[in-house]
Amino acid sequence: MSEEVTYADLKFQDSSETENIQEFDQDAVKAPPAPSHVWRQRALALILLCLLLLIGLGVFGSIFYLTLKIEMEKLEKLQDFKDILQSNVSLQLKKIKNLSSTLQEMATKLCYELYQKEPEHKCKPCPEEWMWHEDSCYREFVNYETWQQSDFTCSTHNASLLKIKNESVLKFIKSKKFYDVWLGLSPIEDYKYGKELDATIISSDWFTRNTSDLNGGKYCGYIYELHVYYDFCTNKRKGICEKLANPVKIESMLMNEEQDGRMLLV
Ligand SMILES: *[C@@H]1O[C@H](CO)[C@@H](O)[C@H](O)[C@H]1NC(C)=O
Ligand SMILES: *[C@@H]1O[C@H](CO)[C@@H](O)[C@H](O)[C@H]1NC(C)=O
Ligand SMILES: *[C@@H]1O[C@H](CO)[C@@H](O)[C@H](O)[C@H]1NC(C)=O
Ligand SMILES: *[C@@H]1O[C@H](CO)[C@@H](O)[C@H](O)[C@H]1NC(C)=O
Ligand SMILES: *[C@@H]1O[C@H](CO)[C@@H](O)[C@H](O)[C@H]1NC(C)=O
Repeated sequence: MSEEVTYADLKFQDSSETENIQEFDQDAVKAPPAPSHVWRQRALALILLCLLLLIGLGVFGSIFYLTLKIEMEKLEKLQDFKDILQSNVSLQLKKIKNLSSTLQEMATKLCYELYQKEPEHKCKPCPEEWMWHEDSCYREFVNYETWQQSDFTCSTHNASLLKIKNESVLKFIKSKKFYDVWLGLSPIEDYKYGKELDATIISSDWFTRNTSDLNGGKYCGYIYELHVYYDFCTNKRKGICEKLANPVKIESMLMNEEQDGRMLLV
């Protein structure tokens, strides 16, 4: 019996021991759940963080994109505005240019009228003693000189011997009536008969500064009222020079206007 009991005890003990062991084993197996829970939480937190980060990135990205878009639109508008301003500025500049050339035209016309009444009016765009016609100045030099000397005299005044190349100048020269005055015709080797002034204006006889022309030439052209004649270049006569007029100075005319006003008052 006792033996049985003992066995039973033993068995019981044994079983309890094994149970114990089993329990222990179970405990050993059951122990990990605590760390796995933490890991899961951590993983979850990490995922959440990642998600948050992603969302943040997305939000940030869209904000960035929106701001960029707005800024680009602003830039485009600014560019458009700049273009409008630029075209406006060029338009205004054109208007100013037009206005100033109109003003210049008016000043020139007014000055020409003043010049008709007072040949040495301050506004005259030609030097003293020079006649003014359109955009050129003319002067007769009354010293008797050879053609070459006359040509030289003109060049010392930054001018050249007169060439009549259009109707307007022709009309002006005819109205002034010049007698026996060298012209800027090319010297020629063979004598030519005289012809009417009108017939010469379209000719190619007008002198184009060319020294070989001078060397070969013996006969030079001169004006006698309404005609052109040829004579030895070494004979002496007067000469008529021409040069470009300066633009009429608007301020010079205004100054004279003031003086005229005062003169009128006196
Ligand atoms: C351009 O010029 C016109 C007048 O010529 C004016 O009315 C308009 O306001 C100007 N535009 C700008 C953007 O300056
Ligand atoms: C200035 O503009 C007007 C029209 O606005 C035109 O008739 C005129 O010919 C222009 N003048 C010049 C010198 O361009
Ligand atoms: C001719 O022109 C030169 C330079 O362009 C100038 O120095 C000189 O004063 C002018 N002479 C006359 C007489 O106009
Ligand atoms: C005629 O010719 C002169 C120069 O010889 C020139 O100054 C003038 O402008 C010309 N006139 C015309 C209407 O072409
Ligand atoms: C100058 O004259 C020579 C001879 O008449 C001619 O061959 C030459 O082409 C002329 N030059 C100019 C620039 O007219």
